Amino acid sequence: MEKIIVLDFGGQYNQLIARRVREMGVYCEILRYDAPVESWVDAELRGIILTGGPNSVYDQGAPGLDVNIARFGVPVLGICYGMQLINRLMGGSVKHARISEYGHTSLKTKGGALFEGIEAETVVFMNHTDFIDAAPEGFSIDAVTDNCPVAAFSNEKNMLYGVQFHPEVRHTVEGEKMLRNFVFGVCRCAGNYRARDQIQSMLDEIRRQVKDGRVVAGLSGGVDSSVACVLADRALKKGQLKCVFVDHGLLRNDEARQVMNTYRDNLGLDIVHIDASERFLEALKGVVDPERKRKIIGELFVRVFEEEARKIDAQYLLQGTIYPDRIESGMGGSATIKSHHNVGGLPKDSLFDAEHIVEPLKSLFKDEVRIIGQALGIPRDMVWRQPFPGPGLAVRCIGELTRERLDMLRNCDKIFREELQKSSLYENIWQSFAVMTNVKTVGVMGDGRTYTNCVALRAVESDDAMTVEASEIPYPVLKSACARIIAEVPGVNRVVYDITSKPPGTIEWE
Ligand code: XMP
Repeated sequence: MEKIIVLDFGGQYNQLIARRVREMGVYCEILRYDAPVESWVDAELRGIILTGGPNSVYDQGAPGLDVNIARFGVPVLGICYGMQLINRLMGGSVKHARISEYGHTSLKTKGGALFEGIEAETVVFMNHTDFIDAAPEGFSIDAVTDNCPVAAFSNEKNMLYGVQFHPEVRHTVEGEKMLRNFVFGVCRCAGNYRARDQIQSMLDEIRRQVKDGRVVAGLSGGVDSSVACVLADRALKKGQLKCVFVDHGLLRNDEARQVMNTYRDNLGLDIVHIDASERFLEALKGVVDPERKRKIIGELFVRVFEEEARKIDAQYLLQGTIYPDRIESGMGGSATIKSHHNVGGLPKDSLFDAEHIVEPLKSLFKDEVRIIGQALGIPRDMVWRQPFPGPGLAVRCIGELTRERLDMLRNCDKIFREELQKSSLYENIWQSFAVMTNVKTVGVMGDGRTYTNCVALRAVESDDAMTVEASEIPYPVLKSACARIIAEVPGVNRVVYDITSKPPGTIEWE
């Protein structure tokens, strides 16, 4: 299968590069910049992309390449730091600007294969301090900005290309077209990779790894764990896979029933439903600190899950780890953003070692997992569910978690969802939910004074949860959600809407 390799120099947008290329129908993998060349240069390689990164190419110990960049035999595109690296390796010079160029910038294009069909003046996203003041010999300057005399260059003979800006982010208006020009025009890819064509090889791989063994899986109802379980169910024989659905009492309204109904009753998976809500609420009694809540929930979850695994004497653990989980956990050259629960997050005394972890989705992006989920017959509304945090409503219920407060929150959340669905907004929102604040406010209802809870509503737009904007929900929808919540949920007398973006906020309140 033809492929493009992205060499990761630690840039923040590296995942997006690989996602964009795969969306074009070309298989793409991200590797650390220093991955041994023999491990990835083969007959299928069609092109290489060098990413941005936080360093200056002149820093001591700055990441580099110890191969002759002009001799890969396939085209190389350098983005930001990647371009400066090409420049340095080919003898050009890089200068340090007094002020960084950041944000939307007007680019004037002059020609070159990357800019076929691109406007003479187009908006791009810049994020750099170093800049190239003179291109190396043999390179033509393909674009400039007011502050950047070499914003793009190319050397067609050696198949080297560079852009100082970030074509992979949506702010670069014609960025996708530029990447297409590289992938199809320069690298001559055919574009016949489809995520759903991977299903057969994933089934074969599960069978090869597990053989006649027994597998246990945690099924949360989220898209990743669900698709992993349905795949394993298809791959293995009856009795080999047991799915465990741990209900920690922090789920949304009707969630447990929906999950059991979809996966056990309709798709025929072997699932045990463990109602551990009493145990969780007992362990969380009196706890208000958000990090302590997370820790208690995480630990108890593993314990309950392992008790179930022991009961069936499973040798393998199936996990819904996806590609970004591994990248974010520091698999590439990028800084570790968060240590993902699925990656290296198992306790030291875990029942399962690395060889006994089955991760069929580990090379896929979320959108690809969804495509596979649909191809496997998982209903659309389950495949397109909004992400839901592992600690569930615990991080949306500020202060102490009691059954009464959680029930109130569940009802508010349900009403907000119904109002968004009624106006056909729900499917296009990244996440939407209610938050039980720990603020009580004075109100007047009927002829009497009330002094009850204030609930916040939150809805956000995002591509990847790393940055978000608050959704601009039409005012009438917010008003009817507010009116219904106060009328239908005793104990709530005020509703506010959270308009904070991320950064500086986060999606969840805790
Ligand atoms: P924040 O609140 O950090 O959330 O902007 C980013 C995304 O991650 C989800 N989230 C979590 N998921 N365990 C999870 O499995 C957690 O502890 C957790 N905290 C946040 C959140 O819902 C959003 O999609």
